[in-house]
Amino acid sequence: MAITLSDFQYLQTLLHSLAGLVLETGKEYLVDSRLEPVARAEGFDTIARMIDAVRFQPVNNIHWKIVDAMTTNETSFFRDIYPFEVLRDSVLPELIALRAPQRQLTIWCCAASTGQEPYSVAILLRECFPAVANWNVRIIATDINEEVLERARAGRYRQMEVNRGLAAPLLVKYFRERAAMWEVREDIRNMVDFREMNLVQPWPFLPKCDLVLLRNVMIYFDVATKRSILGKVRTVLSPEGYLFLGNAETTMNLDDNYERALFGRVVCYKQRR
Ligand SMILES: C[S@@+](CC[C@H](N)C(=O)[O-])C[C@H]1O[C@@H](n2cnc3c(N)ncnc32)[C@H](O)[C@@H]1O
Repeated sequence: MAITLSDFQYLQTLLHSLAGLVLETGKEYLVDSRLEPVARAEGFDTIARMIDAVRFQPVNNIHWKIVDAMTTNETSFFRDIYPFEVLRDSVLPELIALRAPQRQLTIWCCAASTGQEPYSVAILLRECFPAVANWNVRIIATDINEEVLERARAGRYRQMEVNRGLAAPLLVKYFRERAAMWEVREDIRNMVDFREMNLVQPWPFLPKCDLVLLRNVMIYFDVATKRSILGKVRTVLSPEGYLFLGNAETTMNLDDNYERALFGRVVCYKQRR
């Protein structure tokens, strides 16, 4: 059943206030497919009845389930490949040389979804930088959606998921086949610390990061939210650190305190000194 304008506007306000997400007019079709299962699981006949029931309630579990269901969790291993080549050939060698005295490296994936991105970084480190195997390497991987984080922590992927972006030799080396799924090797899983975190609510303490991956999430935010998040990322990014955004994302016209660092066709960002 088509969603009413008033229900759609309620969802727009809810998603924006809880998660900073912009649900654009014209995306009504998303609501049916994503919220139908939530409505059913919560015991409502229709999405409209669920919205009626929660509309005037203080924020509760159902509101968050609605937010979770409306997030787009699309991701893949070594997504867009070129940024990972730059990490391998330029950025990580530089950061590793810089951090050699402390033997410590801190990386944050801000919107980790089901884990493919942080595991790609962990595999890259294991595969190409054996010298850091006994360093204190911290990969913090956060997301607003507890359900995707559960999947990420389990580190189990369908054939279709590992087919996207993962070279066969890496699959064989870093995963094991288990109950028709591919499970990330335990030592790689242990390199990543998955935590729930909402980028638009007050941030918990985070250590200074050498590398921040804030990829393919700012596209869902409005300009004010992008500005605020980029500003807060600067407080966490070490002065020598790098920020990677998604292909369709930029700091330009949002935050002049970043400068572009260009590696071939890949743009990443550093704090302006
Ligand atoms: C499209 S995925 C991107 C995954 C990965 N970074 C990549 O590029 O492949 C976007 C992720 O951002 C998360 N997200 C959306 N709003 C968020 C917020 N306010 N705080 C933290 N994570 C959020 C979603 O749950 C989703 O998993």
